[in-house]
Amino acid sequence: RTVYVNGEYLPENEAKVSVFDRAFLMADGVYEVTSVLGGKLIDFDGHLARLERSLNELDMQKPEAFDDLLEIHRELVRVNEITDGLVYLQVTRGGAADRDFAFPDPDEVKPTLVLFTQAKPGLADSPAAKKGMKVISIEDIRWGRRDIKTTQLLYPSMGKMMAKKAGCDDAWMIEDGKVTEGTSNNAYIVKGNKIITRELSTDILHGITRAAVLRFAREAQMEVEERSFTIDEAKEADEAFITSASTFVMPVVEIDGATLGEGVPGKVATRLREIYLDESL
Ligand code: PDD
Repeated sequence: RTVYVNGEYLPENEAKVSVFDRAFLMADGVYEVTSVLGGKLIDFDGHLARLERSLNELDMQKPEAFDDLLEIHRELVRVNEITDGLVYLQVTRGGAADRDFAFPDPDEVKPTLVLFTQAKPGLADSPAAKKGMKVISIEDIRWGRRDIKTTQLLYPSMGKMMAKKAGCDDAWMIEDGKVTEGTSNNAYIVKGNKIITRELSTDILHGITRAAVLRFAREAQMEVEERSFTIDEAKEADEAFITSASTFVMPVVEIDGATLGEGVPGKVATRLREIYLDESL
């Protein structure tokens, strides 16, 4: 596979980043994941806008190639012959001569830019979408700026492992009794025909898929309410689902062992998935 590092397209085993890179030492990096369907990048503009916001919020410089990012995405999709899959992008604050908690001088240290692809044949017809996911709930002990898409992903990874150990697919995180989001996705419940999802704040990532799905839902005259909900309310809901760039809309059929509805993907989630995939392709 060919990857991109700081201006160069290289075979993956020749690509190098410094051991002093602050993303390696301090998780001082931000990232984006853009999916590819039928060779086409999905929601690229939204991901680029959020990347710029993440960089601003952390006082991180834009990489020199910022204006070429669309071109770099397309080139990687082309050379790696990606039909269905994703493009992963990471920007870090770069590496200074020594490890130091203070940020390096931006005139001396340039950001690191890395991109690579992952092929995922048949991404849009994942069997999980027909079966639905099972989730557990765990306490949300992440830091308070979850709106910034940083590479500090240890707790979400641990959450995913807790879910697997419980025979489930993912974990929904709870803070002050309310669901924040999934380990790598936004969380929704459906009551009657109303779609309920937590309002935007620093408590959750502002999902690019979330924005698109809520727009399509409103255009289709579906009712949307942006507010937080408890895990007990979720367990009693008619349906639940998640959204993310890599899963699109994915139904949830079980929460902490409680079956939702008939235990199969709900009407609203299924319809939203169809609309999202139709509109994106
Ligand atoms: N994760 N919330 C969290 C904590 C996430 O990590 C993600 C995305 C989302 C959904 O955002 P979007 O719709 O923009 O993908 C919500 C990506 C896919 C990942 O880490 O692989």
